[in-house]
Amino acid sequence: MLALLGGPRAVTRTAELAHASRWPVYGDEEKAAVLDAMSAANIYAPTPELEREFGAYHGARYALAQCNGTSTLHTAYFAAGVRPGDEVITSAYTWHLQVTPILALHALPVFCDIHPHSGCMDPEDLRRKITPRTRAIVVVHAYGAVAPMDEITAIAREHGVPVIEDASHAHGAVYHGRKIGTLGDIGCFSLQAAKLMNGIEGGIIITDREEYYERACALAHYERLPALAHQEYRQYNDPDQVQAPSSFGFKYRIHPLAAAISRVQLRHLDEGNRRRQEHLGALSRRIEASGGDVLKPPYEEEGVFRTWLGYMCQYHQPAGGPSRDRIVEALRAEGLPANGGRAGYLPVYWNPLYQRRDLWGDGYPFDAPYVREKVSYERGLCPQAEQFFQRTVGLPVLHRDVSSELLDEIAGAVAKVLAHRDQLV
Ligand SMILES: Cc1ncc(COP(=O)(O)O)c(C=O)c1O
Repeated sequence: MLALLGGPRAVTRTAELAHASRWPVYGDEEKAAVLDAMSAANIYAPTPELEREFGAYHGARYALAQCNGTSTLHTAYFAAGVRPGDEVITSAYTWHLQVTPILALHALPVFCDIHPHSGCMDPEDLRRKITPRTRAIVVVHAYGAVAPMDEITAIAREHGVPVIEDASHAHGAVYHGRKIGTLGDIGCFSLQAAKLMNGIEGGIIITDREEYYERACALAHYERLPALAHQEYRQYNDPDQVQAPSSFGFKYRIHPLAAAISRVQLRHLDEGNRRRQEHLGALSRRIEASGGDVLKPPYEEEGVFRTWLGYMCQYHQPAGGPSRDRIVEALRAEGLPANGGRAGYLPVYWNPLYQRRDLWGDGYPFDAPYVREKVSYERGLCPQAEQFFQRTVGLPVLHRDVSSELLDEIAGAVAKVLAHRDQLV
């Protein structure tokens, strides 16, 4: 009998599950790195070290560490040349702060729908949304499921538009032999505490293009301007001139202790990703075997090493079957801390910011005089993103090694709830 209806719980190894799914965890190495950094003559030393190591890990020419992921996106959009009235195409299914920096540049987000299983940008819809006003495309690898970058970059190239990867969910993921974050023109990573590699707070940008790097510094790193190659940017903080230093006016550099912690986390990233893949991949095989048509495990693709920021299943409600929320309730009763849609994202345009559109008064930036074509944010705009949110059942990510007995219990809880779902109606 289902635990929700008075039967025994399927998951009994509760302490093991809580231990394995706890994140973030900082160990002695992180603590030692913080103490070392605080004792060093140069308190800022961890920042260039992190940039060197993160850049080398990705084979990227430039890495620029920042205070958070949101600032990396603002910086990347500016670096890519986004101007007032431009359009930037973004996935509708993402964290809202990937999108708001577009508005901060007085540009307009254009929402693109997603693939119904991966949750990542759908290239077909991208093709429909691209216009002569598109200045950039920003792609998120939702919860570590990697977006179809070959198709996306091919469309972008046809139109001469740069691609920015928001790789905040996919540190260390690999797409057909290439690291995520290097597939577009600029890669942005949050290093906030929930991320698979983090500094509690922080962010980092990578790119191979000098122009993007220098424009990024011009927006956000006044102290770096004197060392840049181009006088065009150097002039704003030229030590030979008798003038006050300036830049665009943001100070987005990373906290050096966050850089120190991130350096340690980078060293353990691959090992953590391999462990998550081993256990969660095995869990997916078991869920597929026992009801994968009703509860689809997260998307995996041949030739792609995905990451596991979340373990987001999709519940396809059978005719006459119980609701998603009822399934979540039953799983929780079995001792499996499942989550409904709130574990994932509401389509970003459902946010009041896009519905009321009066944040600054006078309709800015949506109805500003420099807007060439109004953009729609009506409900129903991206049906797959709307459904994805409604179908999501999030299960715990296993960050540490687990026993095969625990995997059996988790898969068993899912199989039990699906097998007895008629009792939930
Ligand atoms: C996809 C995505 N982009 C950007 C961000 C923003 O990063 P931060 O919180 O470091 O500003 C997040 C953070 O959760 C995110 O998940």
